[in-house]
Amino acid sequence: MKLIENINWDFHFNQLAENDYTIIDNFLPSVVYQNIKTLFSEYLEQDLLRQAGIGALGKYQIQENIRADEIFWLDRNNCTPELQTFFDFINHFIPLLNQSLFTSIKDFEFHLAHYPAGAFYKKHLDQFKERNNRILSVIVYMNDNWQKGDGGELKIYSNQDETQFELVEPIGNRLAIFRSDCVWHEVLTAHKSRKSLTGWLLKQPQGLGFLG
Ligand code: OGA
Ligand code: NI
Repeated sequence: MKLIENINWDFHFNQLAENDYTIIDNFLPSVVYQNIKTLFSEYLEQDLLRQAGIGALGKYQIQENIRADEIFWLDRNNCTPELQTFFDFINHFIPLLNQSLFTSIKDFEFHLAHYPAGAFYKKHLDQFKERNNRILSVIVYMNDNWQKGDGGELKIYSNQDETQFELVEPIGNRLAIFRSDCVWHEVLTAHKSRKSLTGWLLKQPQGLGFLG
């Protein structure tokens, strides 16, 4: 599964290097996107998603006042062909990132995330103190027909000036990618069901550790 050619990758890698984040529309080949969206709906219907927590290892806890989304961790060794295609795509993407950004991403972890109406995720960093394996956060939004007023924007704070931020609408097949260690961000309250395929590109192979 090849990368999409009409995306200006150089531009986005520059943005990522300079601003620590970038937003890429129409990220996935549309068949991959459509298939995962369908699968997501099926998983939701089967009630497979669970309330997410915060922290890693022994510190993991559910705190609904901080985040109120529900998630489902994906196992690349035991997944549907639709997800396999997605993981193949990510496997093409990683060497490109490594070359352009001089990173050495060795692994990744992904979950499906669902914010029911009323859910949010307060301002945070994605890297845990107890586990600094996450290099980049990647979020592919899965919401077709997202309208102004539906809420659920990703608010990305500037690293230079805390009062500066960008609001990113969670529009279908849009990718948000940012540094996990230093980009403060939050998810504003969603006013209707909000879906994403969210993951982290990792410094070290995941091993048998805990999924945070
Ligand atoms: C996260 C997160 C942002 C988003 O899962 O850590 O910040 O836009 N998600 O879904
Ligand atoms: Ni986050």
